[in-house]
Amino acid sequence: MINPTASWKTTPLTPVFGAIVEDVSLADVARTDGFFRLRALFEEHSALLFRGQDITDEDHLALARRFGTIEDRLADERTSDDAYKVPKVSNVRADGKLTAADDLHTLHLKANFLWHADSTFLPVPALTNILIGRVVTKSGGATELASTRAAWAAMPESLKARVRGRGIRHRYSHSRAQISPELAKLPMFHKWPDQHWKSVWTNPVNGKEALYIASHAFAVDGYDAAESAALLRELMEFCTQPDFTYSHSWQAGDVLIWDQRAVLHRGTPWPEDQPRTLSSLCVSASDADGLGTMHIMPQ
Ligand SMILES: [Fe+2]
Repeated sequence: MINPTASWKTTPLTPVFGAIVEDVSLADVARTDGFFRLRALFEEHSALLFRGQDITDEDHLALARRFGTIEDRLADERTSDDAYKVPKVSNVRADGKLTAADDLHTLHLKANFLWHADSTFLPVPALTNILIGRVVTKSGGATELASTRAAWAAMPESLKARVRGRGIRHRYSHSRAQISPELAKLPMFHKWPDQHWKSVWTNPVNGKEALYIASHAFAVDGYDAAESAALLRELMEFCTQPDFTYSHSWQAGDVLIWDQRAVLHRGTPWPEDQPRTLSSLCVSASDADGLGTMHIMPQ
């Protein structure tokens, strides 16, 4: 039998994490056993970049479904007549005009410029984000990744000891409040109760540990608010040093897939008069991904 993945070529994205995978059609991978090779690379490298992909929304959805259940944060807001659409990270409105610099949608996009993992504030957080470049700008608009697996492995024991074995609380409005108090008041940021996750996520396939933090994190067990904020800032600064990060400048057809359990990400600004659209599908984590081990058991 022909091995559909035999021609794949992988090269490192950075010295410490990530891989560029070439000679792959993700539209095919979504519907063949090639997915198992992709999944193994995902577990090993934490971030995968594929360039020049001809991938439709249907292909995107098919690929995401191979990872698990596609996250649908707006399920409770859609009426039965509304069709599910692949979410877009975009400054283009439905009428084709660009969003204004000071409107709440733009502020919401700006909150993505804070380092985060997606959906740590949801009862079921995200396993992965599959992000596709659709309309890209000539300058700016990079998506940056930071490996909390590589950072945790390199972190001084004195800093690790301050957070190891403790729970961390996450709240959606906390990240929005860092951008605008008005934005943080919107009902969409108060739909879910605070979540409480262990500070380290151990990959169930290879046993590798990664610090699990985000811009949504606001409290560490055993510390008061000021101590928590200072510790979270110190951890975030450590993890996002250049040694552990990668900055991706988009071309149309690029596909970036990363492991939310082991990688932080953030957007970066682009010229406000230029349209820019990425398609984004998050897939929820499951117990097979280690989610069951992340809950804090009542004492
Ligand atoms: Fe995000």
